[in-house]
Amino acid sequence: MFCFGRPLDSPCTLALLVGFQFAFVVYFSLGGFRGLVSVLVHSADSEFDYAHPHDVYTNLSHLGALLPAHTGAPGKGEQLKDCHLPSPLLVGPVSVRLSSPLSLEEIQEKNPLVTLGGRYRPPDCEPRHHTAIVVPYRNRQAHLRSLLYHLHPFLQRQQLHYSIYIVHQMGNSTFNRAKLLNVGVREALREEDWSCLFLHDVDLLPENDHNSYTCHPKYPTHLSVAMDKFHYRLPYSQYFGGVSAVTPDQYLRMNGFPNQYWGWGGEDDDIATRVRLSGMKMVRPSVSVGHYKMIKHKGDKGNEQNPRRFDLLKRTRINWRSDGLNSLTYELLSKQLEPLYTNLSVNIGEDPHHPLKKGPPPRKITPPPTKLTEKAVPTDSAQKTHRAHGEWANKTTGERGVVK
Ligand SMILES: *[C@@H]1O[C@H](CO)[C@@H](O)[C@H](O)[C@H]1NC(C)=O
Ligand SMILES: *[C@@H]1O[C@H](CO)[C@@H](O)[C@H](O)[C@H]1NC(C)=O
Ligand SMILES: *[C@@H]1O[C@H](CO)[C@@H](O)[C@H](O)[C@H]1NC(C)=O
Ligand SMILES: *[C@@H]1O[C@H](CO)[C@@H](O)[C@H](O)[C@H]1NC(C)=O
Repeated sequence: MFCFGRPLDSPCTLALLVGFQFAFVVYFSLGGFRGLVSVLVHSADSEFDYAHPHDVYTNLSHLGALLPAHTGAPGKGEQLKDCHLPSPLLVGPVSVRLSSPLSLEEIQEKNPLVTLGGRYRPPDCEPRHHTAIVVPYRNRQAHLRSLLYHLHPFLQRQQLHYSIYIVHQMGNSTFNRAKLLNVGVREALREEDWSCLFLHDVDLLPENDHNSYTCHPKYPTHLSVAMDKFHYRLPYSQYFGGVSAVTPDQYLRMNGFPNQYWGWGGEDDDIATRVRLSGMKMVRPSVSVGHYKMIKHKGDKGNEQNPRRFDLLKRTRINWRSDGLNSLTYELLSKQLEPLYTNLSVNIGEDPHHPLKKGPPPRKITPPPTKLTEKAVPTDSAQKTHRAHGEWANKTTGERGVVK
């Protein structure tokens, strides 16, 4: 009553404006319309029984029996039939082991069909998807072991042809997740015509094997839509962090990822903006499928919050065409084929805003052109995905923060 028929500058109008603003903030912090619906309806999860998960190694033991046949020269003998869709080995929710990860040797024993470099191909059918998992990494040994223990059987049940690439940032400079992803994508595509590239954080473990590690043919995919850290909801509607996937084509179209985000935060929003600016949208699995558990840890030395991230984000629209895949420089220090992963150890230079006092001068070299830069990326049906991570643990032990 008091509020009607008053001039616009009355305290009432002000109160109404503030009220609306508050309502909008609440609305978007709940993840926009979808978030609002899921809050109100709250039934989406009933489809899967997360209270009774299966062991993550379920349904794989019979594959070991195929081992002798599998050791023959690949490609000879009779042709395998295409893998069945969906994979008959899927079980839905799987249990996640967050504490005391096994040793690399023990994990290797549990995954007899994984070959050098962390590669796998189903022994009994022709895979339909070819996925590279790219994990930006530094000093997180315990997290890495948890990831390898979990992801290998998870992906084998999906009957994918896959490989896991760890992109190890060497030196003491600030961590740069997005640049490491660029490096991983480029090096992975140098090895093989992956159809899907997964950008995977090291500390995120998928909880449902119906969450397919494959790419959408047209649009980038964001997979970690329901993380325990965010109470199994999307934190905001444009969120693209954690685990996402692009085809080589999509990656080219958005000029890859930014190289200028040193430290924690911002780069995933930049990538989401690139998706939009390059005329694409992002697709997602349903919240009931996209469950992830995050391994808890404290903030990491060398990955402090990036104070420049908001300034950088304001300029994505101007920068995305000039900063990315086409401006990437790095030095591949070594590539080691470990039993459970490929270790790409790289020098990606230093944060220009925090130059290191000591250490060798940054040696940056431009790698020779690859298929990617020649625009000869195949557009066939094959799909690949890869993922990355952003943080790491105690530099001395690598164990810190692994809890529960
Ligand atoms: C996979 O495991 C589930 C649960 O144990 C079982 O019901 C299903 O029959 C298994 N599928 C195959 C192909 O072994
Ligand atoms: C990767 O290789 C580098 C160089 O040999 C090594 O220092 C690093 O520990 C390796 N990282 C992992 C995760 O194996
Ligand atoms: C990194 O830091 C450590 C300890 O602070 C130091 O011993 C080492 O020399 C540094 N490495 C480089 C490449 O600067
Ligand atoms: C890392 O762990 C070691 C051994 O537990 C401990 O002595 C050290 O203080 C830890 N470092 C940091 C930075 O927390």
